[in-house]
Amino acid sequence: MKATILLLPGDGVGPEVTRQARRVLERLGELAGHEFAFEDALIGGCAIDEAGAALPDETLARCRDTEALLLGAVGGPRWSDPTASERPELGLLRLRQELDLFANLRPVPVFESLRELVPLRADLIPEHDLLFVRELTGGIYFGERHEQGDGTRAWDTLDYSVAEVERVAHVAFRAARQRRGKVASIDKANVLASMRLWRRTIEQVACDYPDVEMEHVLVDAAAMHLIRDPSRFDVIVAGNMFGDILSDEASVLAGSLGMLPSASLSDGTQGLYEPVHGSAPDIAGQGICNPIGALLSAAMMLRHTLALEAEAAAIETAVRAALETGARTADLGSAKVTTEALSTEQMTDVILRALESQLGT
Ligand code: NAD
Ligand code: IPM
Ligand code: MN
Repeated sequence: MKATILLLPGDGVGPEVTRQARRVLERLGELAGHEFAFEDALIGGCAIDEAGAALPDETLARCRDTEALLLGAVGGPRWSDPTASERPELGLLRLRQELDLFANLRPVPVFESLRELVPLRADLIPEHDLLFVRELTGGIYFGERHEQGDGTRAWDTLDYSVAEVERVAHVAFRAARQRRGKVASIDKANVLASMRLWRRTIEQVACDYPDVEMEHVLVDAAAMHLIRDPSRFDVIVAGNMFGDILSDEASVLAGSLGMLPSASLSDGTQGLYEPVHGSAPDIAGQGICNPIGALLSAAMMLRHTLALEAEAAAIETAVRAALETGARTADLGSAKVTTEALSTEQMTDVILRALESQLGT
């Protein structure tokens, strides 16, 4: 097949990981007989510097015209002046909103070969992956009021409509049907009116899926259950902010935040794919960040937007195989691992070799 992939490298380690994703997609294209064409567009802090806006009109127009979007990360200390009117993160939020990418899938893969570096007792680490379904275009991120005030008080309002909760709930329940048949819905219904509406709506949607087991979990308790007994979870559906926080927490189960991919989807086949991590300013520019979150995001893109399931699985298998050889970037370091840490590029080299031996060259 022929496909155009729009790369949005962004800031910090964003360009470092998208470069590796491109290498893997290019090689996969050669091996599996697909023609992937790559284009680049500006977003985030670099877009503020070069074009005066975190999401330039030209970038938005090109994103509207492209089905497969692969983003690195945005943000960094250079653009974090709290009084600035334009911020890198706003570019990403606008893009999600403009494309109506309301369903953010964040799988948390569990790798047997990384078990020993997860800082949890081995018997607590789940056998299966978890799947977060995070609502991405509503909630407190997009409430009616975002005001700085006069400097003594500021506002961000939280609201949800029934329609917004319904559509993301359907995504979560449908996903559970393909998995282990369980949905945990996260809320704060004991305190917040918007979260009582969330809970009531989830309950109504659950009636359409009698074969799926559903539980409500208050967010504070959920944060505890996630590390005390993560195996109790299968699909976790949450609002925008709770989903953001809990998925970073859950990344510890995968060995590192650098391992987690995501897909942001709307009703159609278009998708924005990005690692869950940010621009990692503390390690940016050193060539040592973990590319796996970005590579697994590319795999999700092949699966959800380009309908190339076998190719998506090939990348996932290659990542698993590379980890099994002991290949580790620095964030996957542990006293028990003797292998020297690989650079971003070297880690990708190992994954490319695994891909090649799988696909027969
Ligand atoms: P971060 O995710 O960038 O980093 C948190 C920690 O994880 C750091 O110690 C970092 O070194 C480590 N880490 C992250 N990705 C890694 C990788 N691929 N390999 C190895 N280690 C990795 O979060 P932060 O430091 O809180 O935020 C930095 C900036 O990134 C902020 O401006 C924030 O707004 C932005 N951010 C952007 C996105 C996005 O673009 N989707 C997501 C999260 C944060
Ligand atoms: C993420 C990030 C973003 C979010 C920021 C950068 C806007 O943390 O994608 O997880 O909060 O959604
Ligand atoms: Mn986040």
